[in-house]
Amino acid sequence: MWIKNLKVLAVGAFVLAFYTWIAHAIPQLPSEVPEALDLNAATPEVLVAAGEKIYNGAGGCTACHGLGTRAPNLLTDEKGQGPIGARCGTREPGKDCKTYLHEALTEPSEYVVKGYGPIMPDIRRTLDPGQIWAVIAFLESQGGEVTVTSEDVKAGGESAEESGGGEAGGAELSATDDPKAILNEKGCMGCHKLGDEGGAVGPAFDGIGSRATKDYIRESIIDPNAKIAQGFEQFKGMMPPNFGEQLSATQLEILVNFLASQK
Ligand code: HEC
Ligand code: HEC
Repeated sequence: MWIKNLKVLAVGAFVLAFYTWIAHAIPQLPSEVPEALDLNAATPEVLVAAGEKIYNGAGGCTACHGLGTRAPNLLTDEKGQGPIGARCGTREPGKDCKTYLHEALTEPSEYVVKGYGPIMPDIRRTLDPGQIWAVIAFLESQGGEVTVTSEDVKAGGESAEESGGGEAGGAELSATDDPKAILNEKGCMGCHKLGDEGGAVGPAFDGIGSRATKDYIRESIIDPNAKIAQGFEQFKGMMPPNFGEQLSATQLEILVNFLASQK
């Protein structure tokens, strides 16, 4: 009897050892590229793959794009002009695809696509320059030719053509503690109105202090899907869920106090 038990144990140990070995032997799939991937040395294919992941994830792009009416389609045809990679070179005279896309992401108010509101946020608030180039490579690959290279990534925030290469520029995360500056910097005003300013995607901040407690406001910022604002049920999931990571604890409390004081 004890022989049999021992056998069972031995088989169990072997199976465990085998799978542990397999798990270590399998190379990391490219789709599991860690956030800290060094894009400086990436091939265009790697940039496109990284860009696709950012587009569908941390970039928050799908909150607006691909839903139909709120923002232009990027991956599918838009009003007979083709997907974004096919139409990006024809948007502004004298601007090639790469230059236009970089502008569309970092200075969205420079050119606002006809028929849409100016609610596209400045993506530098959420992504670093390398990630932005990866997203541009991915967008170019949607019906067009990928012209982004690791040279652009190395050049950082400036377009490679403008800067001729150079040192990495980056959108610095400022440590401002002025509530209105934080709201602007984090892109909240792209979706929320305060007085005459801001977009009308989410509920206006005006009067929020008389209808919501500080706890509710805090939860709405760090876990926006926990409770959905009344009348905005169809916009569930639109507010980016990662502000908890982007705001310092101090900035979060400054916002909560500021919003709670909007009676
Ligand atoms: C809050 C909603 C919103 C979010 C989030 C958003 N966009 Fe936009 N985007 C828009 C709107 C609206 C337009 C059209 C108006 C304009 O040109 O500014 C637009 C325009 C664009 C254009 C130009 C399209 C064209 O046909 O020329 C590109 C490219 C683009 N967005 C890419 C992105 C990417 C990439 C992300 C994520 C990193 C993103 N957007 C996130 C709303 C959004
Ligand atoms: C892409 C658009 C978008 C951005 C950017 C955004 N929000 Fe929102 N927000 C919404 C939408 C839509 C709702 C309503 C649906 C919900 O409750 O999730 C909402 C709800 C809220 C609420 C609850 C409001 C109420 O009356 O119940 C608060 C508070 C809030 N957002 C604060 C912020 C702050 C602070 C920021 C920036 C750090 C921000 N939001 C950025 C779209 C956005």
